[in-house]
Amino acid sequence: MITKKTIGVLAGGRSAEREVSLKSGEAIYKALVSCGYDAVFIDVLDNLSDSLKENGVEIAFISLHGGSGENGDVQGLLEVMGIPYTGSGVLASTLAMDKEASKKVFLCHDISVPPFGVVRREQIWINGKLNLDSITPIVNFSLPWVIKPVAGGSSIGISIVRDKARIAELIDLTFSYGDKIIIEKYIEGKEIHIGIFGQRVLGGVEVKPLTGFYSYEAKYTPGITQYILPPEVDDSTYETLKMVALKAHNALGCEGVTRVDMILDEYNNPYVLEVNTIPGMTETSLLPKIARLSGMEFPDLAEEMLKAAMTRP
Ligand SMILES: Nc1ncnc2c1ncn2[C@@H]1O[C@H](COP(=O)(O)OP(=O)(O)OP(=O)(O)O)[C@@H](O)[C@H]1O
Ligand SMILES: [Mg+2]
Repeated sequence: MITKKTIGVLAGGRSAEREVSLKSGEAIYKALVSCGYDAVFIDVLDNLSDSLKENGVEIAFISLHGGSGENGDVQGLLEVMGIPYTGSGVLASTLAMDKEASKKVFLCHDISVPPFGVVRREQIWINGKLNLDSITPIVNFSLPWVIKPVAGGSSIGISIVRDKARIAELIDLTFSYGDKIIIEKYIEGKEIHIGIFGQRVLGGVEVKPLTGFYSYEAKYTPGITQYILPPEVDDSTYETLKMVALKAHNALGCEGVTRVDMILDEYNNPYVLEVNTIPGMTETSLLPKIARLSGMEFPDLAEEMLKAAMTRP
């Protein structure tokens, strides 16, 4: 045991990923308790600062996905309250959560990303009508497209458009998740996620949904996605993927654990989709699976994350 301090496992919250976060939080809470830590489970609903004080939290283990738990808001509150926390700091969390900001940073670091354009609601809703002509200068690449909310997670609100006739309907749908959307070129290829802890690359996994893309259903319905650990790529490609993933993690200034989602196209070019600063942490989530492959069992991973939070300067 590395500390006798009270650890608050922050989970739940009000984002669209509440249910997933509760599962991550429960798994972390159980692992910490099984290692003998004094842990309290906090469902982050209304007044977080009051809950932290009432429960005497001295270190925060953030298991929140999406919304204010992942975008830097909760991290900022903990900074102000002087409570050490797991994972990335305020700026890295904010950048990683915003797919427009992170892609711009990646481009500055020569990290390849799919061609993309960002559209705000007022740019295309003109006189109460969706005006698709106004998209042409912003999205100057051919179909298929992937339409996403700029700040989403768990594939919620994401659609793939292959047919021109469905563009308006799917854009409209994505705007129900936020006022800013990102349209990316769909990259055909292998999907590979790389797990990182600090400056150590833990390894990777190839994600192969049996049909379609890695949607919410494909992520959370057992049996409909195949996971290949380590990915079936040649050694030099694997090394490149790991190097690019670490570069993306560092470009945003991430700390602790991240999971970098990438697509490897048919010419072996890796494209970074995003860096997840609070990846899913149930025992069967991808990051813990990757960590296990590198020799770190789930409770060790939780303990190492705690240690990193406590030793951050
Ligand atoms: N440009 C793209 N080309 C091909 N497939 C894509 C592209 N963008 C996204 N996808 C597919 O959609 C999935 C979700 O995309 P992304 O990782 O950007 O979203 P997310 O909602 O932030 O996911 P997460 O659950 O990892 O937070 C990817 O795992 C991939 O299967
Ligand atoms: Mg992703």
